[in-house]
Amino acid sequence: MHGKDTMPKSDIAVGLDIGTTKVCVVVAEKDARGKLNLLGRGLAASEGLQRATVVNINKTVEAIRLAVADAERESSIRIGRVNVGISGTHVHCIPSTSEISINQTGVVTESDVRRFLEKARSNIRYLDIENEIIHVIPQTFTVDDQEGLPDPIGMAGTTMKGSACIVVGQKTKIRNIRQCVEKAGLEVGAITFEPIASGLAVLRESERKSGVAVIDIGGGTTEVAVYLDGAIHYSDVIKVAGNDVTGDIAYGVKTLHGIAEELKIAYGCAYGPESGQDEELVVEGIEGRPSKYFPRSSLTLIIEARMTEIFEMVRDSLNQSGFYDALHAGAIITGGGSLLRATEPLASRILGLDVRTGCPEGVSGGIRGAVESPIYATVTGLVGHAFEHALTVEPVTPGPSEPKPVVGQGAQPQPKPEPEESHEGFWQKILNRFKKFWEQL
Ligand SMILES: Nc1ncnc2c1ncn2[C@@H]1O[C@H](COP(=O)(O)OP(=O)(O)OP(=O)(O)O)[C@@H](O)[C@H]1O
Ligand SMILES: [Mg+2]
Repeated sequence: MHGKDTMPKSDIAVGLDIGTTKVCVVVAEKDARGKLNLLGRGLAASEGLQRATVVNINKTVEAIRLAVADAERESSIRIGRVNVGISGTHVHCIPSTSEISINQTGVVTESDVRRFLEKARSNIRYLDIENEIIHVIPQTFTVDDQEGLPDPIGMAGTTMKGSACIVVGQKTKIRNIRQCVEKAGLEVGAITFEPIASGLAVLRESERKSGVAVIDIGGGTTEVAVYLDGAIHYSDVIKVAGNDVTGDIAYGVKTLHGIAEELKIAYGCAYGPESGQDEELVVEGIEGRPSKYFPRSSLTLIIEARMTEIFEMVRDSLNQSGFYDALHAGAIITGGGSLLRATEPLASRILGLDVRTGCPEGVSGGIRGAVESPIYATVTGLVGHAFEHALTVEPVTPGPSEPKPVVGQGAQPQPKPEPEESHEGFWQKILNRFKKFWEQL
């Protein structure tokens, strides 16, 4: 089906980010050094979501189809199974603690850890019947009186306590995402909370190990996540983001949303002291009306007001989280909204933290340049997450009479068994995640 001559790949994974402004797909394999080797990217405008939540199934399905076809063309890979992101104000990180007796040998085993996680999970299972669990993420352990253990296996003791982060989301909203992906002819390999994916893509190891906040400013939502000791501890989804900045410009300049977006990208600045020399901007008239003139300093005022509001909400959220004082590595801003000029100094002033802009790191491949932008943090993290949890697809070596590479679901390559299908598989997945977490420390 594809003309490109491609060598059979080892493991390949696909991330699908269904955002408020764009649907994005990235296909990648792991190279010899363990880096993500990007094989293809697909992009489509998204019109079926509001504030990161699906509001129109057909439009969302169409955008997914377009983005997938685009990525298939570029990668010469047929896409079957994807790791899809989820976000929205309905998703929450709930802390859960639990305690178990260590098995009779008196040494912690994997089975003890599984029991611990199961208990941490079941502690909140019936919290709210409208919600379902998306992730169970271990944090730290105490074996008898030894506290703060990231990896308790092999430790001697009689009881093990610990904490975990249980990410839950509304069943109906999760079902809508699944439905869109499936209607687009794909299989949902896993669903990942988007701030976890963004964090995976942009955080450096030292930041992840100390305390850091990841702030993903998208089109419809601003996601906040706090990482401590390698694991997520807090998340919040704020309903103000880049599209609100554009909306304010359209309102202030009295122009169309599209023109306001162009103004924002070409001349926008988030922080007055960095806006430079003032000048008169010419704004194209609507439908043949005469052009108008607008001072650049007024554009900055409009943008700064809204961006200030966003970072004040983020600051309030971090204060409320109780983790503010632990953010030794400051904050990483990412998402398309972080591309506004001078967002870093504004964020730093309001948050009172060191701030840097985070782009996907640790990627290779010819199309690397196309995803090394904060806009692609989530989708790159979704691919990385798929590799961490063995959500890859096996390649098929094309025979002499077969068309070129066809990788993914369907008749040809058989996917690895889906871990979420069975109860046992589910716990194996948790355990794999847990192992990976330790390896990273
Ligand atoms: N160069 C740029 N300068 C300023 N803003 C930009 C730039 N590029 C993109 N943006 C803004 O980034 C926002 C889109 O970001 P992103 O692609 O991360 O959002 P999304 O993932 O589609 O949405 P969400 O995460 O809220 O569901 C838009 O508001 C857009 O105006
Ligand atoms: Mg996004």
